[in-house]
Amino acid sequence: MTDEIACGRWIIEGGRPLLGEVEIGGGKNPAVAVIAASLLCDEPVTIENLPYIEDVRVMIELLECLGAKISRNGRVLCVDPRTVNRVAPRYDLAHALRASSYLLGALLGRWGQAEAPYPGGCDIGERALDQHIKGMRALGAAVTDQYGVIRAKVGRGGKLVGSEIYLDMVTVGGTINLLLAACRAKGQTILFNAAKEPHVVEVANFLNSMGARIKGAGTDVIRVNGVEKLHGSTYAIIPDQIETGTMMIAAAATNGDVTIRGCIPTHMEALSAKLLEMGVRVDERDDVIRVRSTGIRRALTLKTQVYPGFPTDLQQPMTAMLSTARGVSLITETIFESRFKHLRELARMGARTQVMDRVAVIEGVPELTGATLSATDLRAGAALVVAGLMARGSTDILNPHYIDRGYERFADKLNSLGARIVREDQAESGTSARTGA
Ligand code: EPZ
Repeated sequence: MTDEIACGRWIIEGGRPLLGEVEIGGGKNPAVAVIAASLLCDEPVTIENLPYIEDVRVMIELLECLGAKISRNGRVLCVDPRTVNRVAPRYDLAHALRASSYLLGALLGRWGQAEAPYPGGCDIGERALDQHIKGMRALGAAVTDQYGVIRAKVGRGGKLVGSEIYLDMVTVGGTINLLLAACRAKGQTILFNAAKEPHVVEVANFLNSMGARIKGAGTDVIRVNGVEKLHGSTYAIIPDQIETGTMMIAAAATNGDVTIRGCIPTHMEALSAKLLEMGVRVDERDDVIRVRSTGIRRALTLKTQVYPGFPTDLQQPMTAMLSTARGVSLITETIFESRFKHLRELARMGARTQVMDRVAVIEGVPELTGATLSATDLRAGAALVVAGLMARGSTDILNPHYIDRGYERFADKLNSLGARIVREDQAESGTSARTGA
């Protein structure tokens, strides 16, 4: 991985079925949360199975800038948080990444104060933090939210105090941030209406591996009994749920036959059910999923929901596939209000789509035709790659750096399955290189 931001483009020769086997890497969203959580520990922590992606790199740099001692050997990261000497993450890095908001909970929980700008991340909706702030206040922190910067500090007693917190909506980030803040608080915290996503469970498991006392993660009521100290731990990140899903969709969309190894099939139930409904064959065993086309792809009605419902992060790749399904699909996006931008790009390839507020209507066409497209966010980028793989002719994808934020060696993995993707990377320094087959 380099420190440069890749611009450039990906060129895809479409129309080739994906065939073969692929291995899934460590999860992006669990990894960035676990890296932030490592700050809570009183001893060094080892995190294994980290994916090589841009968001992980930025998260590590944020910790380094806070003063944590970091060493990385391939997929293994050692964090020694004892040397942290700042409670304000570097503004430009924190602003670039949604997961930087986890530093608020972790720093507040460990050092009693924290300061961070409103995080950026993918531009897919408003992405408010009011529930994070409400929860930190309930734990006794004084929190200000002015001029785009959130400052939080423990109150007079010098310690956060456990509390009952009712979240007004199911929020993944809010649930994780409050777990981080609460795990060293005095007494018990109960989070009601908590998110149940696999990475919420992952953060709780990681914290428990360091001696935290968290029960109920994976249900909508989580109980946290605060502890005085957290001890060192070695912890391996779970496989990426969304990379798995994107590979499953890409296999089906290209009329392929792909065996996906090293994944967790139970995390994929909502997608597997929809693929079966479309006429695609899905077989699961242990940590393997095989997706096979039967030549049939029926249109669908689909609604994104919190886990275990259909994940919003797979809506975009899924709509790319549905653009050539037989019939009319209705897709309702309930989580993020601006997550249909990729449909404008798909229209350049001949897709017939209409968006009315949170509902997209997709009338399946016989085929897509290659075009020049622009990625607007991470999963939009993945959707355009799926569309490019399906299309007749050549597709150019601009702004592919969005894809590198969250998919490890995505083009290489697809090429190993028979895709033809050429990466034309252009670093910001102006140098240019072509990689990939
Ligand atoms: C996490 O974002 C993921 N990001 C997203 O993955 C994912 O799409 C999302 O959860 C939903 O599953 C990370 O894990 C780093 P939320 P997050 O808080 O935590 C509203 C990807 O592509 N809300 O569950 O930001 C919010 O505006 C990314 O990998 C409030 O109103 O999601 C949104 O409409 C993108 N107030 C909804 O809740 C709050 O205080 C869900 O947001 C918090 C959230």
